[in-house]
Amino acid sequence: MIIDVAALSPLEKQHYLQHVIAPRPICFASTVDGKGNVNLSPFSFFNLFSTNPPVVVFSPSRRVRDNSTKHTLQNLMEWPEVVINIVDYDMIQQVSLASCEYPKDVNEFIKAGFTMEPASLVKPPMVKESKARMECRVMEIKPLGTEGGAGNLVLCEVLRLHLDASILNEHKKVDQRKLQLVARLGGNWYCKVGLESLFEVAKPNTELGMGIDALPAVIRYSSVLTGNDLGALANFRELPQKDPGFADAQLQQLLNRLPGAERTLAIHQYAKELIRDGSLSQAWQVLLQAI
Ligand SMILES: Cc1cc2nc3c(=O)[nH]c(=O)nc-3n(C[C@H](O)[C@H](O)[C@H](O)COP(=O)(O)O)c2cc1C
Repeated sequence: MIIDVAALSPLEKQHYLQHVIAPRPICFASTVDGKGNVNLSPFSFFNLFSTNPPVVVFSPSRRVRDNSTKHTLQNLMEWPEVVINIVDYDMIQQVSLASCEYPKDVNEFIKAGFTMEPASLVKPPMVKESKARMECRVMEIKPLGTEGGAGNLVLCEVLRLHLDASILNEHKKVDQRKLQLVARLGGNWYCKVGLESLFEVAKPNTELGMGIDALPAVIRYSSVLTGNDLGALANFRELPQKDPGFADAQLQQLLNRLPGAERTLAIHQYAKELIRDGSLSQAWQVLLQAI
């Protein structure tokens, strides 16, 4: 299906774009109006765009329903400071509750049962329960349109970070496994970062990978090895040398037992398992011995 986005209704645009541009991290924004009334609302049109200067951006949109603007945006026009509280799994049901359209004078900290903790540099309070909070100064607000669904980019400079000790390792760095981040996808879908969903992709940024175009044809066009497998193999700087002393019992069995094309498939299958387990040098040797 090919979609001409301009021809879609605002709700259809929302549907397609929000389902495929996902998962999105959630900014739980605490703001105040000119009189000091507090507001707390979640926004998943949110990300980090610069680390030096440290700039995060989120976007309270005009409502598709009636083109009205969100209280968060109105507050930021009156008082250009915000605390961005990062949302984790322990908070998500209360965060969702805070997204209800309460009247402007209602403080969602109280409605959603969160604790206000004074910030040190800005006026809006922090969410005590959030394990990562950012005190921010609003640099600029950029409206992206005037119709319902139009976003308003809020560019925020991060002034001070508050990190809970429970998410830090012994070197005072954030341990990605300890912060059970939650993200928004399309419709009612969310996802949770946890040990079952985390994985690492090694990227030596000082060296250039040889590239998939440099792989021997028998490997590159293997019917067993996938794009992920090839990507991992081609991340080596150059084609490894065949090691004549390489000894591997399982490979030896395959070499002894099977003839021809069937043997290549079985060897590629074995290499694929080694790649999956992160034994890339061994996988390379298995593949090279069979060429
Ligand atoms: C997880 C989550 C993410 C959301 N992300 C956005 C968003 O990025 N932009 C937006 O305009 N509304 C978003 N909403 C809806 C707002 O939170 C909702 O309209 C809220 O009531 C706005 O409150 P306010 O008028 O007090 O600012 C989101 C809601 C939830 C639950």
